[in-house]
Amino acid sequence: MIGLFDSGNGGLTVLRALTRRYPQMAFAYLGDHASAPYGNRPSDDIVTLSTKGVEALFGLGCSLVMLACNTATAIAGRKLQRDWLPSSGWTGHNVIGIIAPTVEAATQTPWAVTSPQYPQKYNTDTIAVFGTRRTIASDVFPEEIRKRCPKVTVLQQACPDLAGAIEEGAPEALLSHMIEGYVAEMLRANDGHPPHRAILGCTHYPLVEHLFRLYLPPFTRLLSQPGIVTDSLEDYLHRHPHYAGKPAEPGDKPLVFTTGDVTRIEPAIARFWPDHPPFSALDAARPRLARA
Ligand code: DGL
Repeated sequence: MIGLFDSGNGGLTVLRALTRRYPQMAFAYLGDHASAPYGNRPSDDIVTLSTKGVEALFGLGCSLVMLACNTATAIAGRKLQRDWLPSSGWTGHNVIGIIAPTVEAATQTPWAVTSPQYPQKYNTDTIAVFGTRRTIASDVFPEEIRKRCPKVTVLQQACPDLAGAIEEGAPEALLSHMIEGYVAEMLRANDGHPPHRAILGCTHYPLVEHLFRLYLPPFTRLLSQPGIVTDSLEDYLHRHPHYAGKPAEPGDKPLVFTTGDVTRIEPAIARFWPDHPPFSALDAARPRLARA
């Protein structure tokens, strides 16, 4: 079984894309709604919370966990992979993030290649990255893009209140107003020059992709993570087939857990995924695991 972890609802955009593409694959999802949003939290908190989330998914039987959250990937990804995992006792388990596949798609260069290659090294376009305050402050997107495409201009725009507003199920008009403001701020900082491409670098943002589309010029191409990550998981499992685990039974739905209050989170989720798999409180999983 493959696990997905996010601070709340954002990773569901990735889960939905994955379940549509791989109906035969078993997935478990954990949203840390009790602590969402992560994007303005101190880094140490994000590392601690992400470690707990990954461990909970390992405990549920996932041998591979994807951090379906840019903030968790940017702040905790390397620490989990390099420091925590080798000494955690979870042998044969792995953690992957979603920034590497996004950078691969943006630069058309494999992650393992960290120097400019022909023809990508001659790319000169402009990419805007929208993300949480913590993701943007980490500079991970510009650093990783420029290693592979040094002539590309990367503009960054933090959207500090957006994931929280989406999480709370804020009205469309408010979300629209916020995104209009963030796009305008990004354009002002670039002397009014619009970007050729834009990365929606927070898994909550595909839920408001139509609003980014509305305020960005028509020629700005949007790079949206659910599709990118779905393609890249196929490649990953081709190289590491054992992480796919046992196939799901026909009609099985993904297991979906929250650290929060199931009834409180339901309305915001039902708005964008009406037939989403039913959430259980994380604690409700424990007696079932004890019986297994
Ligand atoms: N969906 C997350 C991300 O991709 C986190 C947003 C948040 O919790 O602030 O960054």
